[in-house]
Amino acid sequence: MDGNGRWAAGRGLPRLEGHRRGVEALRRTVRAATDLGVEYLTFFSFSSENWRRPAQEVSDLMGLLKLFIRRDLATLHDSNVRIRVIGGRDDLSPDIRALLDEAETTTRGNTALTLVIAFNYGARAEIVRAARRIALGVMEGVIAPSSIDENLFARHLDTTGIPDPDLLIRTSGEQRVSNFLLWQLAYTEFVFVEQHWPDFDRSTLEDAIREYGRRDRRFGALSSAEAKVG
Ligand code: IPE
Ligand code: MG
Repeated sequence: MDGNGRWAAGRGLPRLEGHRRGVEALRRTVRAATDLGVEYLTFFSFSSENWRRPAQEVSDLMGLLKLFIRRDLATLHDSNVRIRVIGGRDDLSPDIRALLDEAETTTRGNTALTLVIAFNYGARAEIVRAARRIALGVMEGVIAPSSIDENLFARHLDTTGIPDPDLLIRTSGEQRVSNFLLWQLAYTEFVFVEQHWPDFDRSTLEDAIREYGRRDRRFGALSSAEAKVG
């Protein structure tokens, strides 16, 4: 979700207004994705590197997350949305940790869209956390080093149980991964859109999904057409 700041600057508004409108775009997108039958939707809402922003902006973003959970949890739960949070929990304030835990616990049994919120998330840190969990398992004698394979590793990531993304959409014209889901994006299709995140809507999502449908996913093998020709 990139471009909140630029969206605001372009209108002579404070960055916070861009972030507020970003939350509205998030609500819109969750609804659109649910309607379209998307099963997993992940938002990169705060990166472990975003702490480097000015203290006021960091506190504004924390405030918006709290507001979002407090205001939207009931609605999301009613819509049968399951919430999962990925990212480091330890350096978050107790009130935010409690809200994230509540969101996950309340919606645990829901079966429509899974909404994955990447908060205080960085992919390298996630991979390191997984390595640490596995090392502990080895130390405790519950994991044999010879059993460590890609499957086992993936099960120790924050995203355990969540399939790898089919499609990544990055807004605002940036064409970087920015430490997002480095392990999980191995075969993901990327779509870059010029729109700033606060302008993102159902039609942008539909266009991206249409574009995804035109891609030929090979996973290192041959395309189905080539395979038939032999
Ligand atoms: C994305 O918008 C929102 C978050 C990172 C939380 P930005 O804040 O990165 O907006 P730009 O990149 O400055 O336009
Ligand atoms: Mg940005």
